[in-house]
Amino acid sequence: MKIFIDSADVWAIKDAYETGLIDGVTTNPTLIMKSGRHPEKVYQKLKDMGIGDISMEVVGNAETMINEGRRLKAKFGDCATIKVPCTPDGLLACHTLSKELIRVNVTLIFSTAQAILAAKAGAAYVSPFVGRLEDNSHSGVEVVRSIVDIYKKHGIYTEVLAASIRDVAKVTLAFWNGAHICTIPPKVFTKMYDHVLTDAGLKIFDEDHKTTFSSERVGGDMDRLDGLSYDFPTGIDDGFTYTIDTPETQGTVDFGDFDPGVGFNP
Ligand code: E4P
Repeated sequence: MKIFIDSADVWAIKDAYETGLIDGVTTNPTLIMKSGRHPEKVYQKLKDMGIGDISMEVVGNAETMINEGRRLKAKFGDCATIKVPCTPDGLLACHTLSKELIRVNVTLIFSTAQAILAAKAGAAYVSPFVGRLEDNSHSGVEVVRSIVDIYKKHGIYTEVLAASIRDVAKVTLAFWNGAHICTIPPKVFTKMYDHVLTDAGLKIFDEDHKTTFSSERVGGDMDRLDGLSYDFPTGIDDGFTYTIDTPETQGTVDFGDFDPGVGFNP
């Protein structure tokens, strides 16, 4: 199970990558355009950060994509994954590059049939666009599930990389339906940490921790327990009354008629 960041924003990727939970990055021409940088400047920065798998999208006809793919692989080495569209040209490029052991991500996948062709072309990854399918009233996670099923049945090594993910619920659903990888925008990744009960629980734990170690209590406040008596209800402990002089104050604990051979012996 791998998580990729779907972005060309170098700083946002850096923040996510420093969590130690990120396995790669996917970019596309739109994300690169939004970054305002030259694509290769982005790839270089990501490579320098230590990111070992960067999807670099190529465009044009099969020949152009093949030449670009070879050039990017030669320039960036093992971190380069060449991203091609699921078109006849894209799949021809995929077939050629894959035979040269260059990793290829076939993108713009919207059906199981396309994923079958991409696998035949030797793709390392196929990217079904979950969000864009949902935008068009199709179940994106259902497409993920059916691709995963068919690949499993036929022993295909191509990995399913769920893309176009817009919310945390889709990450969970994509993995639940067998996606090997989810590529997600930095904001969605950050939201994966969030839960209202985690926040509420943490607030209480933080306050209790502060109280425990406040200067007022440490070393002094335990005196309040001195001489306290606890009446345990009949039927649970035979109605014994335990008088507790805490070790902090007396160095002893008096358990009344309690048989020391049976339980706690201070
Ligand atoms: C990643 O490989 C895709 O290009 C990306 O996830 C598309 O996401 P979008 O549909 O939100 O643009």
